[in-house]
Amino acid sequence: MTLQDSAFLRAARGEDVPHTPVWFMRQAGRSLPEYLKVREGIGMLESCMDPDLVTEITLQPVRRYGVDAAIFFSDIVLPLKSVGLDIEIKPGIGPVVANPVRTLADVASIPDLDASMVPYISQAVRNLVAELGDTPLIGFAGAPFTVASYLVEGGPSKDHARTKAMMFGAPEVWEALMAKIGAIASAYLRVQVEAGASAVQLFDSWAGALTPADYRQHVMAHSARVLADAAALGVPRIHFGVGTSNLLSLMGEAGAEVVGIDWRTPLDRGIAQVGDRAVQGNLDPALVFAPTEVMLARAGEVIEAGKAARGHIFNLGHGVIPTTDPDQLKRLTEFVQAYPLA
Ligand code: CP3
Repeated sequence: MTLQDSAFLRAARGEDVPHTPVWFMRQAGRSLPEYLKVREGIGMLESCMDPDLVTEITLQPVRRYGVDAAIFFSDIVLPLKSVGLDIEIKPGIGPVVANPVRTLADVASIPDLDASMVPYISQAVRNLVAELGDTPLIGFAGAPFTVASYLVEGGPSKDHARTKAMMFGAPEVWEALMAKIGAIASAYLRVQVEAGASAVQLFDSWAGALTPADYRQHVMAHSARVLADAAALGVPRIHFGVGTSNLLSLMGEAGAEVVGIDWRTPLDRGIAQVGDRAVQGNLDPALVFAPTEVMLARAGEVIEAGKAARGHIFNLGHGVIPTTDPDQLKRLTEFVQAYPLA
């Protein structure tokens, strides 16, 4: 097998696969004891800027589970830190921004990102590609809407009220902010792919807070632009959000080869909405807390439903829950990889 012939990249391109490829969002992170050990006493964003640590953490789930792809250990707000914004990730809370963005002057003061600002990212990707061999590395970025929400609210938000206030009430500020974040995301993905990442995922985790009309009018073009810039790099693209049952056709239209489907949408319905594309998903992340045979039976249903898609990459419908038992993910990985496709 070669990297380009790996099950993950073949499925992403909609080609025949030897087995259904599987990886897990947030596989590199809090559910692994070896992760907690190496992270002791080091802040989240500081860890992301240490190439040796990023390499080790990214490899941990690949070693333990034998998943079909590695996800680069970083965060969607890391590029904002790299261009100089005062931002940190507080344990148990998430990203917190010292000076929330509210005006056109605030937007204009955010620097663009160029490769010289993130040497630790290029270095970590190069290390990883050398270690991973035939296992693909997925690079990623946060999509403009999701990242804008952190910047405008100043931290995590349930209702995204200030973000939407800007979207509806100050369209020129909104457009400038979305364009700025989009350009940073494109540059950040370019750095990762030029250093050797073989696919990218655009995380629009909070897009599900939008109506389809508002997504189309205020958000979609900016995500589509990031995806188009990534297409020029020649790697498959995955576009993912949470609670997006009503947005899946638009997220497909935005242009990725693969659309990620969260667990609330039955996979067959998701497949019908995304058009002639591959899908990624979508086992309920809480099913790892069920008895193993219950979890595996549901995983089998996901794989069966996935056969109707142009390609299917098995994943959870959102990130691994921190209290997940790693042995359950190991059993799940082995089950998916051994599942007969004929
Ligand atoms: O394993 C992986 O998926 C790779 C690494 C990764 C992280 N964050 C590491 C992380 C990825 C792909 C992300 C993306 C990310 N970050 C998203 C999109 C994906 C999603 O889950 O919807 C979002 C919305 C963020 C913002 C963010 N960063 C949140 C909401 C949190 C959780 C806060 C908490 O502690 O509950 C983080 C922190 C974070 N990012 C952690 C990790 C491993 C935990 C922090 C720690 O271990 O100290």
